[in-house]
Amino acid sequence: MNNQAIGVFDSGVGGLSVLKVIQQLLPNEDIIYLADSKYIPYGEKEASFIVERSVIVTNYLLSQGIKALVIACNTATAAAATLLREQYPSLPIIAMEPAVKPATKATINGKVGVLATSGTLRSAKFAALLDKFANNVAVFAQPCPGLMECIERGELITTNTRQLLINNLQPLLAAGCDTIILGCTHYPFLRPLLSQLLPANVVVIDTGEAVARHLNSVLDKQQLLADRSRAGQIKLLTTGALACFKQTIHLLWQSHYQNIEQLNL
Ligand code: DGL
Repeated sequence: MNNQAIGVFDSGVGGLSVLKVIQQLLPNEDIIYLADSKYIPYGEKEASFIVERSVIVTNYLLSQGIKALVIACNTATAAAATLLREQYPSLPIIAMEPAVKPATKATINGKVGVLATSGTLRSAKFAALLDKFANNVAVFAQPCPGLMECIERGELITTNTRQLLINNLQPLLAAGCDTIILGCTHYPFLRPLLSQLLPANVVVIDTGEAVARHLNSVLDKQQLLADRSRAGQIKLLTTGALACFKQTIHLLWQSHYQNIEQLNL
């Protein structure tokens, strides 16, 4: 048993879509969530910069005594997960990747679309994922520059976000995709809009639940789960502007959150 916190990070509020599922599955765990909002978007930056930020963020979370790390960001996983695992071999690190494997099982017509950041889609990790799992399906990758910023601003159903999403979905629908992977942790917040824009037969898949289940099993195996009689506390940190972060969280989670701080990192 171990009551130390789990560290979770993303470039911004996207990882909160993962945090929500973790919280439901592991209500006894303390979680420190760090949004590296000052440096958004990770998805349009060089991999070396994302590696640098991921190391800084991980070092900070380790200084807060975390027992495990969740990289709640597909882009940071693609750029930095291997290096972080090498650098911190004794820290359990759970990372995200686009749900290519489940999508190959879900598709009926063999056409799968992926919405993700440019950084994720051009990474060697994504290419390896396709090599491994996508031999019998056609995968159509669609980078979505600008989309995560809409979510950061809390614009979930505005005309601007809707149009950007329509533009990004258009090539995937034209190709006949019946399955769409949300390969960025920000995009699950667009599910209500997606269900308005997509034909009913199109299946939308994200990795939040799988990651939460994996985290649970890693902690369980290493006897790192927290005491079941306690209620977990969540602390939210941002390297960006606090007022803006608070406002977006309020919109995304429909509740006011007390434990939020700004961090210079
Ligand atoms: N939420 C992130 C992801 O899962 C990236 C967003 C960004 O900073 O571009 O890829």
